Amino acid sequence: MNVPRSTTKLAVVGAGSVGSTLAYAALARGTARTVALMDVNKAKVDAEVLDLQHGRMFVPEAEVIGSDDVEVCRGADVVVVTAGAKQQPGQSRLDLAEATIGLTRKILPGLVEVAPDAIYVMVTNPVDVVTFAAQQVSGLPPERVFGSGTVLDSSRLRAALAEHCGVATANVHAYVAGEHGDSEIALWSSARIAGVPLLEWEALPGRPPLDDAARATIAREVVESAYKVISGKGATNYAVGLAATRIVEAVLKNEHRVMPVSTRVDGFHGIDGVCLSMPTLVDARGATTVIDTPVSDEEAAGLRASAESVRAVLHRFGL
Ligand code: LAC
Repeated sequence: MNVPRSTTKLAVVGAGSVGSTLAYAALARGTARTVALMDVNKAKVDAEVLDLQHGRMFVPEAEVIGSDDVEVCRGADVVVVTAGAKQQPGQSRLDLAEATIGLTRKILPGLVEVAPDAIYVMVTNPVDVVTFAAQQVSGLPPERVFGSGTVLDSSRLRAALAEHCGVATANVHAYVAGEHGDSEIALWSSARIAGVPLLEWEALPGRPPLDDAARATIAREVVESAYKVISGKGATNYAVGLAATRIVEAVLKNEHRVMPVSTRVDGFHGIDGVCLSMPTLVDARGATTVIDTPVSDEEAAGLRASAESVRAVLHRFGL
């Protein structure tokens, strides 16, 4: 009897703290039937896979495989690229560009050869620059190569707003957009809390007001989040691993979920020829449609400034 191949395969490139956390989160959530982990460090990837396999009894049934050979990614439905340089304390994500553009150009062709039909999700930083480079070098349709973008930052924003306002995170609908980095901006004008426009939110009894000062503090804390975590533990991994896993699920389950992923943006509020995060439809076809989210004049200006930050790095490296 011809036993059908397991239905979904997720390949994670890079078995560092982000990649191995992503693989762990995908197993715990039953994201894919096969989780493949690849890293050039054979000892590391073999150990990560062994450790993950030992927990199989506690998670939805799944096959966990790994190798230092790109062959392990063959036939993947989604490939998530986490391999890259680590942000050092005080280092910006854009400072990593030279190393990670080179890595992207080196590994993408081999991945596309073994997984030509996959959706590619770039997580490696600077993710907007890396996504732009990956779209170029892969030769795939742009919707099939996108970045994790500000999905993580939007989670940080929603968590902070939920805490400040005294409501569940699920009741907060707000996006961070632009660069996944220092120039990102919160889209306050389209945000909602329990259906109430955020800018009209009245503080609940015993809760502080969500005034200009509070919003400015929250926005600054979101931008500085990664630096704070990195200074304490050397890297971020849990939240970004969960964010990437959630993106993979939107693809594998064809959810048509709107998420602020990093895609090629052209003709949006005067922004052209760069990858940035705006609320975008994500489903089995990839990141297909940027939603025309209304933005204030101030937010549009912030997005244009963010685009300039990313474009300056693209130009520096001839992209
Ligand atoms: C962070 C990394 C993933 O923001 O850029 O945690």
